[in-house]
Amino acid sequence: MSAPAVSRRDLLKIGALGAAALAIPWQGVLSAKSASRIASNKIPRPYTVPFAVPPVLRAVRSDATTDYYRVVQRPFVGQILPGVQTPLWGYEGMVPGPTIKATRGRRTIVRQVNALPAVHPTLGYTPWTSTHLHGMPSEPQYDGYAGDNSMPGQWKDYVYPNSCEARTLWYHDHGVHHTAENVYMGLAGQYHVSDPVEAALPIPRGAYDVPLTIGDVAFAENGSLLWDDNSHSGVYGDVILVNGRPWPTMRVEQRKYRFRILNASIARGYRLRLSNGQPFQVIATDGGLMSAPQTVTQITVGMAERYEIVVDFAAITAGQKIQLVNLGVNNAVDYDHTGKVMQFEVSGPATDTRNNSVPATLAPPHPAMALTAGMSTATRRMRLERTGEPGLWSINGKTWKDVEDGEYEPLFARVDPGAVEIWEVENRSGGWFHPLHIHLVDFQVLSRNGRPPRPEERGPKDVVYVGENETVRLLMRFSSPDGPHGRYMVHCHNLSHEDHDMMTQFQVGAHDPDCDPIHAAPPSSAPEPAL
Ligand code: C2O
Ligand code: CU
Ligand code: CU
Repeated sequence: MSAPAVSRRDLLKIGALGAAALAIPWQGVLSAKSASRIASNKIPRPYTVPFAVPPVLRAVRSDATTDYYRVVQRPFVGQILPGVQTPLWGYEGMVPGPTIKATRGRRTIVRQVNALPAVHPTLGYTPWTSTHLHGMPSEPQYDGYAGDNSMPGQWKDYVYPNSCEARTLWYHDHGVHHTAENVYMGLAGQYHVSDPVEAALPIPRGAYDVPLTIGDVAFAENGSLLWDDNSHSGVYGDVILVNGRPWPTMRVEQRKYRFRILNASIARGYRLRLSNGQPFQVIATDGGLMSAPQTVTQITVGMAERYEIVVDFAAITAGQKIQLVNLGVNNAVDYDHTGKVMQFEVSGPATDTRNNSVPATLAPPHPAMALTAGMSTATRRMRLERTGEPGLWSINGKTWKDVEDGEYEPLFARVDPGAVEIWEVENRSGGWFHPLHIHLVDFQVLSRNGRPPRPEERGPKDVVYVGENETVRLLMRFSSPDGPHGRYMVHCHNLSHEDHDMMTQFQVGAHDPDCDPIHAAPPSSAPEPAL
């Protein structure tokens, strides 16, 4: 393993380490106070901006089996910082994109129209896009495969079966080699699937069921987003956004709320806690409801992980304020205000007291959680590391370029439909954490360093936080004989790592032309037919 060049990020890391552990005198010189270059008085003080929830997208039409949506990926000028104009890219011209609501068993077809400019305004690359619905067992040609590129001016209809249990998913760009830039510009949104089990629960719903999409950005002098991926290590902003607002304040009533937390950051992990130390309940993970809620005082949320939590504000005095804070994780650069996320200001008694409880049993065991290690027919090992050229990330020494160079034939694994396997993922580095994401499947985290996983991880997952010097064992079933088959990606969800080039693929069953991820349903440049 060759030594990577010392980047600004490494210097910042030394600085942060110095501050925490050694308080060495030059710490102030390697300042990690802020990343933004815009005048500091343009950045609002934390907790001064009102909270907002993205709108729910309206279907273009619905028929007996399907809801049809149209989403345009377009540039727009937004105001993340009050009074400052920031060029952004958004689904439907908003950041985050509108929330899409689906029901298990009813299909959705989402037309994605790439109306982005021919080149990125400052970075100069062509923004081809590929839209991934993260958490959905889609067929390969609708899964946002890297290489299934829609160029500016093209559109593509994505078909989603919604065959999965109720859960919080998200749709985001997956354009090969530029996913990080495209998502940083704003191409991400939540997608919720409900089902009868979830709908029958007395848990908070409606206005009390609230998406929290968390991200971090930095600003250039002129108000545009500042891009610095620290030699492909990751982008670390000094401004924390919740639903596109910097450190917002949300007014809440004295009752329970359900928060659907999504870490949509490029490279920042969070360790979330309430400022008063109050416990809260985790009710769902990436793949949907846990069987029983887990009561915790903090959760670690790697990139792309989703946790649904219920927080009870009933005992908080009206007028009091509580903050959602970030205790930070190793190897994510901390700045002055990255320890703050958002604030809750308690207004007074609940105006609606229905659906205000969390039962001790939430759902029958999720299929991924009902698996046992004894059902596994193969154990595979995956080594995540930085190899070769500085800035190149690999899986078992291979990169996505190896897949491209092999005409998309090379596979990390070929598995039979319905097979159960254990994948053991190892991160031997002390310097990086890697949230590993496996497409198509929901898995169970069997162990973390030989010990039981964290309480919040004891539900169905599709991303696992593989920390420094950690080994994580995962158990999963790959589709079913009548489920989707073909080629699917697996990658690190630090999007800078993914783009450069920590991604490979596996194949379930046969690879047929009718499910070829690039050729089975290519994007079109023709005029759009009616949906
Ligand atoms: Cu959320 Cu392949 O990604
Ligand atoms: Cu995914
Ligand atoms: Cu990584």
